[in-house]
Formats: sequence, structure tokens, C-alpha cells
Amino acid sequence: MTETLDLFAQATAAVAHIRALTPIQPVVGIILGSGLGSFGTQVENPTVIPYAEIPHFPRSTVVGHSGNLILGTIGGVAVAVLQGRAHAYEGHAMSAVTFPTRVLGLLGIRTLVVTNAAGGINTAYRQGSIVGISDHINLTGMNAASGVNEPRFATHPGAGQRFFDMTTAYSPRLQALAIEQAAIQGYDLMQGVYLAVLGPSFETAAEIRAFRALGADLVGMSTVHEVIVARHMGIEVLGFSLVTNMAAGVLPVEINHDDVLGVGRGAEAQFTGLLTAIIPKIPA
Ligand code: 6GU
Repeated sequence: MTETLDLFAQATAAVAHIRALTPIQPVVGIILGSGLGSFGTQVENPTVIPYAEIPHFPRSTVVGHSGNLILGTIGGVAVAVLQGRAHAYEGHAMSAVTFPTRVLGLLGIRTLVVTNAAGGINTAYRQGSIVGISDHINLTGMNAASGVNEPRFATHPGAGQRFFDMTTAYSPRLQALAIEQAAIQGYDLMQGVYLAVLGPSFETAAEIRAFRALGADLVGMSTVHEVIVARHMGIEVLGFSLVTNMAAGVLPVEINHDDVLGVGRGAEAQFTGLLTAIIPKIPA
């Protein structure tokens, strides 16, 4: 007899599989977006687990997303790094898109660092800019916390509610920490509002003008759902976008995914330097 496991039972099964492979108890989770996967090499004493081996884990089909969970330490802090993510535009259900985040939550992370490749709407940005995410606008038309509420996903006191606050979804404490560490490394970390669409088409120039009027600085196709379920679980969030290209109509050029990957390789060193400096200082 086969029985369909509910989402919580599926996540529990994935956690059991991971715990059998490593004694590491991660306190910080990191999701690496397009072109940023190489940060995974920063993990010391890594246990690398392909997504394909973890029960119920979704797989990304996108070029530039390698699909490994890496557990180990960075600067003495136990981390779980997700190298690549599944997106809704690939046809994944919201529950699949956010499954890895749920699993990291049940593994015990207190902080989630989300990263992505994004289009730049704010004209102060350049191709290759790393931007701290101050807030988001979810225009994907979906919300990953919808469906039956599952309070067992609450991993922190007071979390797991049907309705939950998003006022400070992106931790002000961690944003300040990121700005401070960037300053130590000699640059001003710009901040911006990330607007998420479903994709996979890039936007029209008219959409980008509209999004700018709405207060968006960055546009992309990920991240907001992970942040929503992280907040549902009571996990604090820090976010970064790598501006791989300016959004439609900002510059007189077209947009292609190869730029998205190539710019990641260029900004890698700066991104890696910033994140490795921040991580040891995250545990409050
Ligand atoms: Cl211009 N739009 C979206 N939606 N995602 C992106 C992008 C643009 N550039 C990189 N990722």
C-alpha cells in the first residue's frame, strides 16, 4: 500500500536522510542563485549531497544551477548551502519551490541568506552590482504559504501562524551588518526592493517602467516564496541580488540568459568576500 505523505512528513523524511549523512547542525542556510553557485566551494569540511538523492527534493532544470546541498562550516559557523533552486516557471508547485527552505528550517537554521540574479531597474545600478535586498514586492500571483496551514513548520517561538507579519521580512539587523562589512571591504553596498514575477519571459519595457513607479529597484523570478516560508517558520532573512543586466528598456540592448551566467562569474570574488565576512557575524 502506498500512502501520499503530507508536506511536513516529506520534509521530515528529507531531514532524516540528510542527518544520516552528516552530524552538522546548520544554523545559517544559504541559497545560491544563477551564476553564484561557486560560493559552495567556500564550505569547509563539506558534505555534498546531490538534490537527486534527497527524498522529495525538487530538481532545477535551469543552466547555471548545479543542484547540490552542501553542509559544513564557514568561518566556524555551521552552514547548509543550496547550490541552485527550483523555480515556479519550470512548472514546479509552490510546495516544491519552497521544499528545500522548509527542510533547512527543520534542520535548525535560524537565518536564511537568499541570493539571486536580477535585472536592474534602478539606474544607479550597473551590470555586476551586488545589491542588498531591503524588501520585496511579490507579483508572481502566488503565495507559498497558501493551502492548509502547517504549524509544525514553526521552528521558532510564535511562528507557524496562518497570518504572519512581513513588515521586517528582510532583517534590519542583518542588512546593517552587510552594509558594515561591505564598508570594511571598501565599498558602499546599495540597497533595493526586489520585485518578483513568474517568468520565464523577461519583462517588456512598459512593465519595467510600471515596476519602477511601484517602487521596485530589481526584478527577478525567485526568492520571494522562499522568504515567505522562512518568515512563516520564524527564520530571519538576509538577501542579495547580483545585477546581471539592466532590465528591459533601461539600456538600448536586449537581455539574454548567457549574460546572467557570465556576470555571475565576474562578480564572484566580491560576492564571496562579502558573504564569507558576514556569515561568522550572523549568529546573534
Ligand atoms: Cl531583466 N528580469 C527578470 N524577471 N529576471 C531577471 C532579469 C530580468 N535579469 C536577470 N534575471
